Amino acid sequence: MNSKGTNNVVDMPDGRHVPMDSSVKEKQSLPVHLNVLVICKAYDVQLALSSQFFLIHNLHFEFSEKTPKQFSQYDLVILAVDKEKNSNKTVIEKLANEKMPTLLLGNDISAEVIRVAMHYHVQDIIPLKDIEQELFKILTACGNELLKQKKVAPIISIINGKSGSGASFITGCLGEISADLCQDEIALIDADLHYGSLADALNLEASYFLTDALNEIDKLDDLAIKSMMTKRKNLSLLASKAYAQLDSEQNKNFDHLEQLAWKIKLNHDLVLVDLSRGLDMLTLPLLLLSSQILIVVQQNIVSLREAKALIQQLIDNMGISKNSIKIIVNRHSKKVANIGIDDIKKVLNINDVFYVSNNYQLASSCTDLGSPLAKLSENKVIHKEICSIIEQVFPIDVVIEKTGFFSKLFGR
Ligand SMILES: Nc1ncnc2c1ncn2[C@@H]1O[C@H](COP(=O)(O)OP(=O)(O)O)[C@@H](O)[C@H]1O
Ligand SMILES: [Mg+2]
Repeated sequence: MNSKGTNNVVDMPDGRHVPMDSSVKEKQSLPVHLNVLVICKAYDVQLALSSQFFLIHNLHFEFSEKTPKQFSQYDLVILAVDKEKNSNKTVIEKLANEKMPTLLLGNDISAEVIRVAMHYHVQDIIPLKDIEQELFKILTACGNELLKQKKVAPIISIINGKSGSGASFITGCLGEISADLCQDEIALIDADLHYGSLADALNLEASYFLTDALNEIDKLDDLAIKSMMTKRKNLSLLASKAYAQLDSEQNKNFDHLEQLAWKIKLNHDLVLVDLSRGLDMLTLPLLLLSSQILIVVQQNIVSLREAKALIQQLIDNMGISKNSIKIIVNRHSKKVANIGIDDIKKVLNINDVFYVSNNYQLASSCTDLGSPLAKLSENKVIHKEICSIIEQVFPIDVVIEKTGFFSKLFGR
């Protein structure tokens, strides 16, 4: 049986629950989330490793006494070398055949095993006595290696200070139009655990939800996560089940949200998150992983007051950089002259302020019937405004023809 840990208790294979005290030292974070399998029979080695693993953030680890049949869900295997030379060699060979990055762990490893390890390009060898100094450094090097080989999608979160501001409407529009403008793989995560509405708005029929992905995180390898999401061409959605948050059993699985987010990041080009329930403990990891945060506001005092409080919370209490925050004024109208774009910049003290016009007909047809890009494209004004946000904020290669349709959209 496997034992594993992500919080501060390790469930040992013999049924013991061993608490780890990681309170004294500050956690260090890996550059990318690593899912590590340790093949190790000795409990004392498992314990020594666990106490180091708990000091490392962005890491999920599992112990197994045997080599599992398949390990495509792991990013790295650490093999604790034991006395049986032959079995070590067979495991190293098997891991190499599966192209699994591997580290060896042990004291006084025989020259013969080291020769096999070098032959099969084992990434590094960690002497057991040095794990305290070496483990984090070596895992960081493995993480950097992984980052070199894979493209990592940035996460852009769309959040509101007040519900009803239009965060979901705008997330849907941004998702559909950006997927249409480029060939990149765009992922949408509906993180409104109460009223998740993106599937309906995008007219996508979801049968697999965020909570399902969190429930079976251990089984989801790179291919699985992509195939489970609801997809239309290059736009994929991980939908939210209505009232998911009321299920307290499920809430425990939100511990895996960061791990899931990394899986999605590593398999797409851009990730958009609908955080239209505002700040929420369960979905916080998504916000903290975001490279940009788009706050949707409306042109009224209450909305701006809520947005100001949200910005303060993000910057002062959560350590989010002001540069990553941008504002979208939704349902914008020039007629509201006393609260113009410049006033909003000043009040919120944020320079990047975009706007999306009010269009009741378009928005309600998206809400009621599912949007379809066709309708969005028909509405030249909103389409152009959304394109302008994409062009200025999204790190995607937009297909722009100098004299073609898109150049007109961007007014070039
Ligand atoms: N630009 C807009 N023009 C007109 N109605 C809009 C616009 N944006 C959103 N709405 C409408 O406002 C309501 C709330 O929008 P929604 O996206 O669900 O807000 P949130 O996700 O922030 O709670 C919806 O009925 C939606 O159709
Ligand atoms: Mg919403």
